[in-house]
Amino acid sequence: MVSTSAPDSAPSGFAGQGAPPAVGLGLVPFEAGVDAASPNRNLAPITASLDQQGTLMVGGCQLDDLARTYGTPLYVLDEATLRATCRAYRQALETCYPGPSLAIYASKANSSLALTALVASEGLGLDAVSAGELLTALQGGMPPERIVLHGNNKSEEELELALAHQVTVVVDNWQDVEILSRIAPGRQSPVRLLVRFTPGIECHTHEYIRTGHLDSKFGFDPDQLEPVLRHLAGCSWALLDGLHAHIGSQIFELEPHRDLAAVMAEALALARSLGHPCSDLNVGGGLGIRYVATDDPPSIQDWVRTVAVAVAEACQARNLSLPRLLCEPGRSLVATAGLTLYRLGSRKEIPGIRTYVSVDGGMSDNPRPITYQSRYTAVLAGRPLAEAEASFTVAGKHCESGDVLLQDIALPQHATGDVLAVFATGAYNASMASNYNRIPRPATVLVHGGKAEVVQRREQPEELLRYDLLPPHLNPIT
Ligand code: LLP
Repeated sequence: MVSTSAPDSAPSGFAGQGAPPAVGLGLVPFEAGVDAASPNRNLAPITASLDQQGTLMVGGCQLDDLARTYGTPLYVLDEATLRATCRAYRQALETCYPGPSLAIYASKANSSLALTALVASEGLGLDAVSAGELLTALQGGMPPERIVLHGNNKSEEELELALAHQVTVVVDNWQDVEILSRIAPGRQSPVRLLVRFTPGIECHTHEYIRTGHLDSKFGFDPDQLEPVLRHLAGCSWALLDGLHAHIGSQIFELEPHRDLAAVMAEALALARSLGHPCSDLNVGGGLGIRYVATDDPPSIQDWVRTVAVAVAEACQARNLSLPRLLCEPGRSLVATAGLTLYRLGSRKEIPGIRTYVSVDGGMSDNPRPITYQSRYTAVLAGRPLAEAEASFTVAGKHCESGDVLLQDIALPQHATGDVLAVFATGAYNASMASNYNRIPRPATVLVHGGKAEVVQRREQPEELLRYDLLPPHLNPIT
């Protein structure tokens, strides 16, 4: 059994982990054991390379140049890595599963028009959990028939929006059933549904990102599954396309996914015995990625093979015709394609304790370290191979002692203004960003073939005042 990385594992900081430089054109020059076929197993995007001055490039763009042109903090997304990952999921599903299949991007990992358009162009679907994610998907050109709407507390407006566009709704609880039974009848076609249930499977990941165990706010309890399936069988407005379960995130084990297949096949047999067509089985997402050199997640191919074989076998064992297999990767689809660039700023040495180096961003653009104690790897963009000088703690600029991005990482000699590149920030960074301390959110650039395009522009401090209203009696005296 391979352990998970979530809040644990080795100190981050590439230089501190002594990974031997590897040579190879097109591969990451400083990362040993690069797996070009499964980007989630690498620290850096697949196009990472060094130019002749030894500075780090991604997508043919020099990172120092990007920082100069677009400012910092800056999210960078590598198009080639994103496409390679989409294709890895699609191809593995086509190769390993004997029936139809669809990979659905969990857009909570990073939602934008550009990412939607990109994953749609690769033939994937998309999972949205709010009106905002749903609108982004629709406007980004995702065909509505490839979208599913999730959520443990969907509003009537969100459900209305889904129905207006004939998006599949993942029914999470009785409130969804109640709202739908008010707004769905009388429409031209029945509402396509998946029913989500808690499979009761434990996996080793951070408690906050575990969802498949019984004590979870998501989905129907197993003992509620039959009642809801029976109820829906009597609803002429409902068409039960299938079942859904998701066991958690940043998972390094394959066994829980194998177990999930058996639990879901059992539920499928029940649903079909009650007369539901149930042509889809959606096994959720959860595959982990490498954040630090000691992380060793399974490849996309191994994950898909495990799931596909387990579902096919579990269905055959119960004499069930093969459902369409859906999976919902989020993190493993986008994390490794992303980096964040910061400029180093002030420095505080506390003799015998530690040295803090501050950057121009922090918990507002990456809340994962303070939320989950997540670890990251960083290098100086201008000298990624330079030998480490000492251990530093990279702090953000927020008014919060816990606003630390990288604890005790080894860095080479550096100066104020140097660009720090933090790897694997493509998932759950931009999408979880905040304006704490009224700090504007960074821009995102998509890089490809030496070209960079802004796909999300930088917020301006003045824009943060957009929603403020000053009641007349508080008007400042001028
Ligand atoms: N499907 C459902 C129903 C989910 O709830 C999730 C993630 C996914 C798919 C995608 O899972 P993934 O492939 O990304 O593991 N903010 C946390 C992660 C929360 C995940 C929530 N659900 C983090 O930064 O680690």
